[in-house]
Amino acid sequence: MKEQNFLTERRRFLRTLGQISGALFLSTEILPDKLLAQVKESAPEPQTFPGKEKMIVLSRKPIVLEMPPEGFEHFITPNELFFVRNNTSMPELSLKDWKLTITGEVKNPLNLTMEDLKKFKEVESLITLECYGNGRSFFEPKASGNQWKKGGIGTALWKGVRLKDVLEKARITDRAKHVIFDGADEPFTPNSPDFRRSIPIEKALSPETLLVYEMNGKPLPIYHGYPLRVLVPGWGGAASVKWLINITVSDREYDGFYMVDKYRHPLYQTKPGTKLSPKDMFVLTELDVKSIITSPLPESRISGEKIVIKGYAWTGEGHIRKVEVSTDSGRSWHKAKIVRDEGKYVWCSWMYEWQPPQKGYYTIISKATDNRGRSQPILPLWNQDGYLYNAIDMVGVYVV
Ligand code: MTE
Repeated sequence: MKEQNFLTERRRFLRTLGQISGALFLSTEILPDKLLAQVKESAPEPQTFPGKEKMIVLSRKPIVLEMPPEGFEHFITPNELFFVRNNTSMPELSLKDWKLTITGEVKNPLNLTMEDLKKFKEVESLITLECYGNGRSFFEPKASGNQWKKGGIGTALWKGVRLKDVLEKARITDRAKHVIFDGADEPFTPNSPDFRRSIPIEKALSPETLLVYEMNGKPLPIYHGYPLRVLVPGWGGAASVKWLINITVSDREYDGFYMVDKYRHPLYQTKPGTKLSPKDMFVLTELDVKSIITSPLPESRISGEKIVIKGYAWTGEGHIRKVEVSTDSGRSWHKAKIVRDEGKYVWCSWMYEWQPPQKGYYTIISKATDNRGRSQPILPLWNQDGYLYNAIDMVGVYVV
């Protein structure tokens, strides 16, 4: 465990302990680790989420908050509506104590303060972040995990520096093949795994992979990794480790729990409901092509007037080439208009004007295709942990 964060955590648990036991004075120095672990485990679930009041709560411990449908009204998601996915306890770090270390297969190990980091060339990028589990609730049969609908996604303007520039300063060796990220967060129970993930060196050296300290013009909020996180564009959110304190350059892929047991995908298709062992699965990387309908809302009642069907589309390593819409259950398809396209790694917004022919119940469907010819499937690839849901989107509406 890292000294600086350990101390911050210690202070935090002491506070919690104080709340629980009513103890007024307890020195951090006399609190044994075992007791700290117990305190953490028994800490009450948070009841409120300051700054995130409008979110849909999927889990309180760890904190998992889904963006409500109104969030889709914004092309750039406001911080207070941006989804949160924690696997662990959320550390409160102070900049004063915080440092980022770069170790492993490097000739020049680094130990950077935020001030040092900000000396690298600053870059700003619009990037869409989606949780690998977004859409999990639509799998049939149900897949285990947080039951996300569509709101495990958001787009923000991120400011930071290129990971590549930092790695160049650290002078990676010829043996460098993967880069492991570790955050200051810790599991709730002593024997549970720490959240660490690695990405291949090629992706780490891509100029779009960033170390970010600002989100939509504000210091990175604590929910999103204050003071620093990595942002791996085009890949599921799990790759973008928050509360970053160490980067280890390695000659191999990281083999911890969140690589070997979680965030894996089937190597082949199985009958929905079939569970596979990790050896029949691979570590998740880029996102798949996907579109969603954000307006009208499912089961809404609309008048017979012309309406505008709206949504977003995105893909992993590529661009959206087209979005098609059907309003007659897939008999005929029409090209939607792309309204705002900010290029690779950012969702694009689309719209389609529709005049309902008469009253009744209609299923509106959207389907995106990217520049690599990948299209959304009719049925998703079922997998036990419910990752990468990307089937065509369907919204039923009543025309009255
Ligand atoms: N980083 C750390 N250190 N701990 C975590 O639990 N969760 C990951 C990733 N980074 C996580 C993390 C997952 S699963 C996702 S989807 C994204 O953070 C979510 O980022 P957000 O909460 O900023 O939206």
